[in-house]
Amino acid sequence: MARVVVITGAASGIGRATALAFADEGARLHLVDISRDGLQSLCREVKAKGCEATDHIVDCRDAAALMALAERVYAAEGRVDVLFNNAGVGFGGPTATMTEEDWRFVLDLNVYGVVWGVRAFLPRMEAQGGTSVIVNTASVAGLVPFPMMAAYCASKFAVVGLSEAMDLELRPKGIRVVAICPGIIDTPILKHGRINLPTAKKAEKTWAQGAPPAVVADAVVKATRAYKSPVVVPRATAALITLTQLSRGLTKAAIRRVADWQGING
Ligand SMILES: NC(=O)c1ccc[n+]([C@@H]2O[C@H](COP(=O)([O-])OP(=O)(O)OC[C@H]3O[C@@H](n4cnc5c(N)ncnc54)[C@H](O)[C@@H]3O)[C@@H](O)[C@H]2O)c1
Repeated sequence: MARVVVITGAASGIGRATALAFADEGARLHLVDISRDGLQSLCREVKAKGCEATDHIVDCRDAAALMALAERVYAAEGRVDVLFNNAGVGFGGPTATMTEEDWRFVLDLNVYGVVWGVRAFLPRMEAQGGTSVIVNTASVAGLVPFPMMAAYCASKFAVVGLSEAMDLELRPKGIRVVAICPGIIDTPILKHGRINLPTAKKAEKTWAQGAPPAVVADAVVKATRAYKSPVVVPRATAALITLTQLSRGLTKAAIRRVADWQGING
């Protein structure tokens, strides 16, 4: 039977690639974003693969809008097999100059977008019975710290903590929760986000050399079939996490070097 899959932040980057990967396995897709044009072109692409896709214009910062989305999806499908809480924004810059609006820009979507997705869908996923999976997009920046990314790291550490705690709580009920932690992925995240750094252009070049979003999409689809969390992609980035487990001091020294290489060091 085709799996019912809900993807937020579906119109671009990782969400878009993951929608296409689930379409390849014949899933019934509910694609969520604030970008109408992006969603419509994705829906056309998915339907060309012979799959069912419904687009939903929803701002994931809006708890009530996500509740209404869950009502619509359950009215149409009666169940959800995979919820991919993926919508998020990037932010880089000195912490001292961040405005209240900057903090809300990051935390309202990266943290509360996931929280409201869980609140809207989880009770229904529990009630439907059987097995299902929630995948939340965190980041490598949710496992290790990076300079000039305090708000982004705070948001993604929150997503990892939320996901890991929920996984322990919900696995006995047949619901698995996976935190997916991508490294540098070639998407328009910097263009869509806020990068208040003189080295922003250098960072853009670094991101253009990142792994393709299809690598994350493949990891997400696999993570819905096999148990592992958190999932770090691409593989090269996983070495940084292994280093963290060996030595925090060594890791911070390595991160300073990585941050220089990424051009996010002010
Ligand atoms: N690209 C990377 O290097 C990278 C690395 C680690 C984690 N991530 C995470 O991956 C996720 C996807 O990012 P991406 O790289 O594909 O970026 P992206 O900018 O290509 O895609 C993000 C999507 O989210 C949508 N969106 C923005 N605000 C929204 C809102 N309020 N409600 C609903 N949708 C909204 C955008 O329209 C866009 O389609 C994010 O959570 C991001 O933090 C990205």
